[in-house]
Amino acid sequence: MGRVARPVGLVPTMGALHEGHMSLVHLARSENPTLVVSLFVNPAQFGPQEDFQSYPRDTESDLSQLESADVDLVFAPSTKEMYPDQFDTYVDVGRIADRLEGEFRPGHFRGVATVVCKLLAIVRPDKAYFGQKDAQQCLVVKRLNADLDLGAEIVVGPTVREADGLALSSRNRYLGPEERAAATVLYRSLCLARDLGTSDAEKIRRRMRALIERQPLAQIDYVSVADAATLEELHNIDGPALVSLAVRIGTTRLIDNMVLQ
Ligand code: PAJ
Repeated sequence: MGRVARPVGLVPTMGALHEGHMSLVHLARSENPTLVVSLFVNPAQFGPQEDFQSYPRDTESDLSQLESADVDLVFAPSTKEMYPDQFDTYVDVGRIADRLEGEFRPGHFRGVATVVCKLLAIVRPDKAYFGQKDAQQCLVVKRLNADLDLGAEIVVGPTVREADGLALSSRNRYLGPEERAAATVLYRSLCLARDLGTSDAEKIRRRMRALIERQPLAQIDYVSVADAATLEELHNIDGPALVSLAVRIGTTRLIDNMVLQ
């Protein structure tokens, strides 16, 4: 963008906006005279068995929330605009993208990195905003931004939660009432990790797993206690550690995390 007041802020989203997204929008609004929000359900980051077709879409509600938040420009391209027929270039971030979510969702971060690279190239923001809710995504985007000299400042906003601790997510609306109650087990397991007050990472993983396994609707994909910068699994916590997990509640896959210092 040429003659606009800088800094320009960008908040990339896939729409179906909730207070988690809106907290990033409000933060970005407070830091940038020009604010762009993108709405694009990115097919490249969904696996073949994943919920791209059924992913919640609610453009009318999204636009009214963004208007109330005084957003200057909403970028809502079509799939064909972002991925025309000849499209054939993808961005692969290395090791940081192979772990955790990368293991369970092959190709996911390739899709995320590709679309974020495109969004940064199209909007040319000074600052781009991402939520700590998707901690690994933040690391992948920072790596991408640094390695390809994309020149944005990557700002990470805190995770917004429901009163009972469940992290806000567009996918929470898939949960039935019993599943919604069961879904609090993610946050409860993170609080357990924090409250154990131990530096023994294996003990933390074990105790978290035991808590989650007592919830019959929950199926663990992974429970991780890893170096917060490299995502390598830890034996002993001696610096910032990212405690993260992915759990399926019925057919809905949820993720959450907490940083232990
Ligand atoms: P989406 O899931 O729509 O999330 C958009 C942004 O909102 C992400 O940075 C995400 O981390 C943040 N967010 C979601 N729930 C949050 C919560 N409870 N608290 C704080 N922030 C939250 O993440 C994506 O879209 C896509 O991968 C995208 C980056 C747009 C690329 O397609």
